[in-house]
Amino acid sequence: MKIEFVAKAGDADAVALLVFEESRLSPAARDADGPMGGLISRAARQGRFSGKAGQTLLLGGWSDSVQTWLIGAGGESSFRDLAVEAAAASAYDAAKLSGATTLAIELTQLSADAAARAGFAVRLAAYRFEKYRTTLKPEKVPSIETVRIVCADPKAARTAAKSWDALAEGVMFTRDLVSEPANVLHPQSFVERCKALKSIGLEVEVLGEKEMEKLGMGSLLGVGQGSVRESQLLILRWNGGAKTEAPIAFVGKGVCFDTGGISIKPAEGMEEMKWDMGGGGAVAGLMHALAGRKAKVNAVGVIGLVENMPDGNAQRPGDVVKSMSGQTIEVINTDAEGRLVLADALWYTQDRFKPKFMIDLATLTGAMIVSLGMEYAGVFSNDDKLVDNILSAGPLVGENVWRMPLPEAYERHIDSPIADVKNMGNGRSGGSITAALFLQRFVNKVPWAHIDIAPTAWTKDSKVGTIPNGATGYGVRLLNQMVQDRYEG
Ligand code: BES
Ligand code: MN
Ligand code: ZN
Repeated sequence: MKIEFVAKAGDADAVALLVFEESRLSPAARDADGPMGGLISRAARQGRFSGKAGQTLLLGGWSDSVQTWLIGAGGESSFRDLAVEAAAASAYDAAKLSGATTLAIELTQLSADAAARAGFAVRLAAYRFEKYRTTLKPEKVPSIETVRIVCADPKAARTAAKSWDALAEGVMFTRDLVSEPANVLHPQSFVERCKALKSIGLEVEVLGEKEMEKLGMGSLLGVGQGSVRESQLLILRWNGGAKTEAPIAFVGKGVCFDTGGISIKPAEGMEEMKWDMGGGGAVAGLMHALAGRKAKVNAVGVIGLVENMPDGNAQRPGDVVKSMSGQTIEVINTDAEGRLVLADALWYTQDRFKPKFMIDLATLTGAMIVSLGMEYAGVFSNDDKLVDNILSAGPLVGENVWRMPLPEAYERHIDSPIADVKNMGNGRSGGSITAALFLQRFVNKVPWAHIDIAPTAWTKDSKVGTIPNGATGYGVRLLNQMVQDRYEG
């Protein structure tokens, strides 16, 4: 699908006009109302359509060649940012199966940046993962091929769209990775896909099992040892800042499939564990976005890629492994594997890159979903300023995040009787917290935050137009916004 920024709808065969709450017509709707003999103002008062966000109404039959859609845009005084995204996504959604091929969304009252943001929202709303369908009923195939954002200053909107495009590419790169089944996306094919990012200026480096053994990464390697797929540590670097400046670092859990290992998961719902690389996917998409918009920052992304399988060679409950940090870990439950992967990835990152801060993203615990439900990710941090920077980005991009504690009092739950630490706390109680405390044992003095995205990496019941069901791409927008607002230039 193509997005264009234009001054006039031209020959579009579908036009979307905004109506604000209490049936207040937008400027473009008002302009069209007269020539249409008051059809719009009457329709906007009839029935239940009143301009509430999410409402749409087709005014069919006014003309032979053009469908007119009224799009509820919510309160007029708060029509900006996420409300603009929602209206644009809603317009696309309303018209996508209508048979029209060119949809013009009338946003003449918006600034160039807001118009560009509307185009971005349409791109995210139109995301589909359908490469494995060989048949699709014709009426289920979107008919819209071009979306025209009609705005006051198309040239400025086109310029503003460049960085929004880079962000959209990043989010969709993440969604593509997270959507792939695990027979297609395994550690090495994940790496291969990221090698393509060299073309946008990322440096790509890969460590295989031999290299990781040399570094003493027994914790990460233990997780992957039951898989026929070789574990990988993927390092993506973007150097957009000053040469001497320390990088900011992002670390991702890339468990390409999590069966639970010998502590095997129940069959029901196990297929969802193809998205257990969602943290790694978000780190890759974020690096894609930073490089794509040439962010003025040095950034490094480190992704621990493994497959957690039961096998004759798999790790057993009770095994003791030695991490790169030197600490030994008693593996009580092989299904608590994400923290084992991150222990070595975090240590490696701080040791090698001496970053300004490090943020890890991981679909780490089911307990995070129990704590916060499906609408919030949890953030744990040893640094108030870092966590504030993350928390303030959330509402700007519609990615909810809530701070969780790291209480010293629970440390004893992860003390092992025979090793330095064990990979599980006391049964189910505080499961996300003990997981975060485990990670913290592999973090030195560097400011660090851990975002448990188990609730938000995937959705089956999205209420947000820019996030179709499936892989959300959560984390890319959040951290891109944080970097842009706090760490560039
Ligand atoms: N990948 C899972 C966590 C998860 C569960 C993410 C559901 C998304 C949806 C993780 O590796 C895991 O299995 N965690 C265990 C930890 C337990 C064994 C201590 C869990 O949450 O049950
Ligand atoms: Mn697991
Ligand atoms: Zn997992």
